[in-house]
Amino acid sequence: MTMPVWIKHAAQLATLASENEGPRTKADMSDLGIIENGSVWLEDGVIKAVGTTKELEQRFSARAKVAEMIDASGLLVTPGLVDPHTHVVYGGSREKEFEMRLEGTSYMEIMNAGGGIHATNRMTREATEEELIEQTTRRLNSFLSHGVTTVEGKSGYGMDLETELKQLRVMKKLQQTHPIDLVPTFMGAHAVPPEYKGREDKFVDLLIEEMLPVVAGEKLAEFNDVFCEKGVFTPEQSKRILEAGKHYGLIPKIHADEIEPYGGAELAAEIGAISAEHLLKASEEGVRAMAKSGTIACLLPATALFLREKAANGRFMIDEGVAVAISTDANPGSSPTTSMPLVMNLACILMRMTPAEALTAATYNAACAINRQECVGSLEVGKQADVVLWDVKNYQELQYLFGVNHMKSVWKNGVQVVR
Ligand code: NIG
Ligand code: FE
Repeated sequence: MTMPVWIKHAAQLATLASENEGPRTKADMSDLGIIENGSVWLEDGVIKAVGTTKELEQRFSARAKVAEMIDASGLLVTPGLVDPHTHVVYGGSREKEFEMRLEGTSYMEIMNAGGGIHATNRMTREATEEELIEQTTRRLNSFLSHGVTTVEGKSGYGMDLETELKQLRVMKKLQQTHPIDLVPTFMGAHAVPPEYKGREDKFVDLLIEEMLPVVAGEKLAEFNDVFCEKGVFTPEQSKRILEAGKHYGLIPKIHADEIEPYGGAELAAEIGAISAEHLLKASEEGVRAMAKSGTIACLLPATALFLREKAANGRFMIDEGVAVAISTDANPGSSPTTSMPLVMNLACILMRMTPAEALTAATYNAACAINRQECVGSLEVGKQADVVLWDVKNYQELQYLFGVNHMKSVWKNGVQVVR
């Protein structure tokens, strides 16, 4: 049994609580449920009470002595951040490609020449499970130290059954050893492996007939993702793969319209994907279709920055009624960062989202994008006690003092994991 924790006197407690259920759109994205001089009581791994310090003082006067008291005077308290899109399990790194890109070679040129995703594919195939666990643990530690307590992770650096399973099993094992909650996604359709070049449909058959049944049978993933992009998987192939996944109970997600407009947003809406990712080049019709179908836009401004591309039009998407989430896309090629605070800053600077919208996109809407809104993403009674104390006085300052890690302490399931 751990001691209850009472965080009190927060200058701002951004609860993200709301009457409305489901992903937040438009004005709801600006409602952070702020409580001034706020308090939150954590006990048995969950949130027991949230309110003003005065309210909690009245309610817990008899038990105040049994709790560990945290004075949050002058500080901001939020739910643990949620990162709904990463490729966190991989072998090796690709800093040389970063240099090549700066010298003028494009991301897709590097990939088509056997580098990029294929390079990480080789390094991940070669790595042992232990090596992947060790490398991923380091990245997860970095996530935690940036206030992130839940992380989605994709396979997709194997593209053969053995390595895809290895990546997914690594995530499962890390659940036993690391405080971060990992949410697994199967992404066998991340690229067409070289041995299937020119026989792409055969690889799609293999994914559908041999990989999906095993992944689903072993319950190693909850979501199924596809890189729908010119030169990778066509919208038709993507649809086949995602429909087949649905048959096995895997919820569809799509890497859509990242490099070129390709109908990915439209496809996401059509098949009822929970989210569409990237969307740098999404068409206006595609965005409107997503608003209508309730598909969440998972935007990755650090990827746009790192690839030196114009970021997705987050402002337009929110104004059109799309629920927006944001994510690091942590991966060795297009976004090696593990900093969700930086991603929130970039959402404001590059996509003209407001500071409040950026925080909603990194907490509650991010939780919705991975189907975890019942347990994380807001500070509400009964939810997991995942809480972050930030060394800033309000949520605006968190986004304004950009590029700096303001994390002061993190509690995961009521236990302080970073101090
Ligand atoms: O989301 N776009 C495809 N996949 C990743 C990049 C993977 C890589 O370059 O290793 C992404 O950006
Ligand atoms: Fe990605």
